[in-house]
Amino acid sequence: MNASLLKLFYEKFGGEEKPRIFRSPARINIIGEHVDYVGGLVLPAAIQFTTNLLVRPNHIPTYRIYSTYFDSFLELEKVEYQKDKKWANYILGVILEIQKEGFSIPGFDMLVEGNIPQGAGLSSSASLEVGVGYSLSECFSFEIPREKIAVLGQRAENNFVGTKCGIMDQFIISVGKKNQCILLNTETLSYTYTNINADDHEFYLINSNVKHSLETSAYNTRREECESAFTKLKSKFPNYKNLYSIFENEINFLDFPFTDTEYKRVQHISGEKKRTENIIRAFSDGNMKLAGSILTKTHESLSKLFEVSCPETDFLVNSLVSEEVSGARMIGGGFGGCVLVLDKIGKKEELEKKVKKKYFDEYGIEAEFYSFQISDGVSELLYD
Ligand code: GLA
Repeated sequence: MNASLLKLFYEKFGGEEKPRIFRSPARINIIGEHVDYVGGLVLPAAIQFTTNLLVRPNHIPTYRIYSTYFDSFLELEKVEYQKDKKWANYILGVILEIQKEGFSIPGFDMLVEGNIPQGAGLSSSASLEVGVGYSLSECFSFEIPREKIAVLGQRAENNFVGTKCGIMDQFIISVGKKNQCILLNTETLSYTYTNINADDHEFYLINSNVKHSLETSAYNTRREECESAFTKLKSKFPNYKNLYSIFENEINFLDFPFTDTEYKRVQHISGEKKRTENIIRAFSDGNMKLAGSILTKTHESLSKLFEVSCPETDFLVNSLVSEEVSGARMIGGGFGGCVLVLDKIGKKEELEKKVKKKYFDEYGIEAEFYSFQISDGVSELLYD
């Protein structure tokens, strides 16, 4: 793999100096969905799908970037938003955020490729942002801490790309460790590594292979709805920094002038907070059945209250539930993408056949099943 990538790198950029190679993973999230922009707790892990970046200073004041996925080349001297090469904005946004920190980035050559399914809710964009931040920091010796690289990646996406995402994806991709999830407080950015022993159960993913286009606009709208609900709650709870922590109180939602939509959104967030506490207890008690049922409850809440699911992922989850899997839910931003399944080891093969067929009969789309390993966060791959 590396030999052919290296060959391609030299073909695109010429020269003889070897690039450095960096790998940036994808992520899953066990629980805490759509709470990372209201100060909530999340439980994500990095997984082995990767973005590979080959990077080398080029000693000319020019950024030269090539994406294998889009077979597209970009060469520019200063950062400018790309209307026709949207893929590049995830990279350029990070350059800009690094520059805002006072670092000057001389020219470089960068080849980007990878195997993270696009639009699958596994965060290929955060993987790219973190890969860019980390590789540039390493190549130019900026020594930016991993946690800060995550923040710069999020800022790039918020300010340059225009999705008002939370911090979860960039954070786990920056700090992830093999076989460990992190429990991250998205208000304080404090986190602990935690090993989930699934006992006689396993996690896997099913890609619905649909992505509905309203994703970015609907995502930003959800965030605005949460902010307006928070403003209303603030009148009674002025000392609370975020929506999530307000739910430490017993709240009668009817006491507040919420719109119907805000009412549903706050119900999801307060429910997700309880589910997160409960699933952590279920994992430490080794009660995987209970953990699974909590995941399915999260799906119902994301679908009915937060309204970020779609018919295809609902159909997959319902089919899985009727086959008595321990639990299943959509993950990530929503409107398509992957479903995370928790089930007893040994049932997957049989289920794969049945569910794929059912899904194909309904939608004419092939669902894909992925096993995954929990992997390290962004890292450099050393030459032999
Ligand atoms: C996307 C965003 C994250 C998070 C999830 C939903 O993946 O990038 O910040 O909000 O959706 O939990």
